[in-house]
Amino acid sequence: MKGRMKIPALTAYDFPMARLLDEVGIPLILVGDSVGMVVLGYQDTTSVTMEEIEHHLRAAARAKPRALLAADLPYRTYETPATALRNAQRLIAAGADAVKAEGGRKIISQVKAITSAGIPFIGHLGMLPQSVREEGGYRVKGKVESEREALFADAEALVEAGAFAIVLELVNPPVAKELSARVSVPTIGIGSGPDCDGQILVTSDLLGLFPWFTPKFVKPRLNAAEQMKTVITEWKDAISSTK
Ligand code: KIV
Repeated sequence: MKGRMKIPALTAYDFPMARLLDEVGIPLILVGDSVGMVVLGYQDTTSVTMEEIEHHLRAAARAKPRALLAADLPYRTYETPATALRNAQRLIAAGADAVKAEGGRKIISQVKAITSAGIPFIGHLGMLPQSVREEGGYRVKGKVESEREALFADAEALVEAGAFAIVLELVNPPVAKELSARVSVPTIGIGSGPDCDGQILVTSDLLGLFPWFTPKFVKPRLNAAEQMKTVITEWKDAISSTK
């Protein structure tokens, strides 16, 4: 799709959302470790386990989407090539068509272990949510030259290792544009400006389903949480007003 059309991608963590996204023709669905924050109530993604991702992935996979179904390797589940490969195989067994992990040159031997086994791999560069504790927050990457150069080197290493797409999270938009023009694989941006080859959002952010925190770069298109509260309150009041 690169160069022909922009790629829309969204997250799903269960059967109905995967089915809805598939029915409207979203070509790439991610069972992201964002499930930890928007579904499981963790503070960040670092508490998400393999078992939790597998559980949500199996539910999404039961929708049998025509879309490519990708899943995140959780925090500390790809520390060596052997564990990366074993856990990537577990995600494939649970229904994923592809796996994603965060990082560039630092995890390149893990990426090679995964792609050499024939498992499609998506990279993730820029702000890496699994490193939020070390980094002390969510910050735009690529504003200084050293970060820009590191992003290019990481992206090239990922492509060389066989990644078929790269998520760019909170990358300075001009750098995301330059990087997208330079690499042969599609870049999927999130908070990285309009010039990536595709865009991905956490579906709960798009729909206003998690009103307690909305990233700055997201404009929810629906106020689902408020609408649900209205309907539930109306129903509750109707029930409690009858004897
Ligand atoms: O976990 C996730 O949902 C993600 C996307 C936001 C890219 O990694």
